[in-house]
Amino acid sequence: MDMRKKITIVAAARPNFMKIAPIVHALQKEADTFTFDLIHTGQHYDKNMSDTFFEQLEIPKPTLNLGIGKGSHAFQIGHTMIEFEKYALEHKPDMVLVVGDVNATIACALTASKLNIPVGHVEAGLRSFDRTMPEEINRLATDAISDLLFTPSEEASVQLLKEGVPQEKIHFIGNIMIDTLLHQRKKAEQIAFYKKVGLKEKEYILLTMHRPSNVDHPDKLKGLLGAIAKIAQEYAVIWPIHPRTYSNLEKFDLLHYVRRDLYDAHLDLSNKQVMLPSGIFIMKPIGYLEIVNLMDHSKLVLTDSGGIQEETTVLQIPCLTLRDNTERYITVSEGTNYLVGTNPDTLIQVYNEVKKDPKKGSAPKFWDGETSDRLLSVLKKTL
Ligand code: UD1
Repeated sequence: MDMRKKITIVAAARPNFMKIAPIVHALQKEADTFTFDLIHTGQHYDKNMSDTFFEQLEIPKPTLNLGIGKGSHAFQIGHTMIEFEKYALEHKPDMVLVVGDVNATIACALTASKLNIPVGHVEAGLRSFDRTMPEEINRLATDAISDLLFTPSEEASVQLLKEGVPQEKIHFIGNIMIDTLLHQRKKAEQIAFYKKVGLKEKEYILLTMHRPSNVDHPDKLKGLLGAIAKIAQEYAVIWPIHPRTYSNLEKFDLLHYVRRDLYDAHLDLSNKQVMLPSGIFIMKPIGYLEIVNLMDHSKLVLTDSGGIQEETTVLQIPCLTLRDNTERYITVSEGTNYLVGTNPDTLIQVYNEVKKDPKKGSAPKFWDGETSDRLLSVLKKTL
């Protein structure tokens, strides 16, 4: 009889893949002690939102893809629960590990918890204190029902204690995503993607924007684009665009703000030096190595993403976050992140200050590439 403990790892959407990669690799090294299944819920399904990350990060093919796809939050969560329950009943894992704060995180945590299967949440304790943000509900609910809460910072552990989580459930292990960043940075350097698309070191700005609060309202999106267009007169702005944002640009008739020179062709530009003039250049979503390379050589980054605030902190690149709050405040207090908000005038003002005199930050404790080792030692002790 196989006495090894079976861990089920759940992944669903783009920001999950860089978080599960180090966990999968650590479990592969401990094959005498653990077996694992990898479940992809299928929330993100495009090649460039999902498959590319599996290939680049050498994540094995999922054991099972639940094929959930697009839909409302209730649809995604409900269907994920129904399908994940079938899997869990048949395969009886010893623990379900969920990461981050997407819809699958709460869906699978809740399903497992109802079946009395222990749940571990990696990236526990982050709070934006904004309950209109769908991810905040997922974070709160997942942390409330998880058995092991793995935090990326001491701040996050303190938050959980304040919410009444018993100390013995909380394990400060560090930032799992930074394991991937530090392991892949050299490879990203070798592909030199920024050069392939005609960019020069520190002479361009990287933009990512997909939060519903920024891109689902025409006036909000237009205001932000107006300010970014002004910034783009000085430095080319490169924008790998999320499918949600692209379809809103179409819907709200805002495509005239952006240039399409790199949109259809960007991956075929190898070795062609096309120096970009000013403007906002959209691209289809790009791979992990490509975005790390673009971040690493940029003058600064404009974003509303969670992960990019953390990655720029470790890469020491100034990051202007286009949100009123952040669940990753440590990137502001210790790192290179600025919480700018979404007022167009404030954005221009902060941009003018940062381009002249960016703050110096440092990586928070345990954002060191060894988080998956710490995670595995907790699992070994607990299971
Ligand atoms: C999800 C996560 C968010 C994360 C983001 C990163 C939740 C609540 N949100 O938001 O935390 O920051 O992923 O990308 O789980 N689409 C495609 N192709 C895909 C995936 C999505 O075209 O491969 C389209 C969908 O059809 C939909 C839109 O993008 O119209 C939004 O997708 P969805 O998965 O609902 O949420 P995200 O906004 O991506």
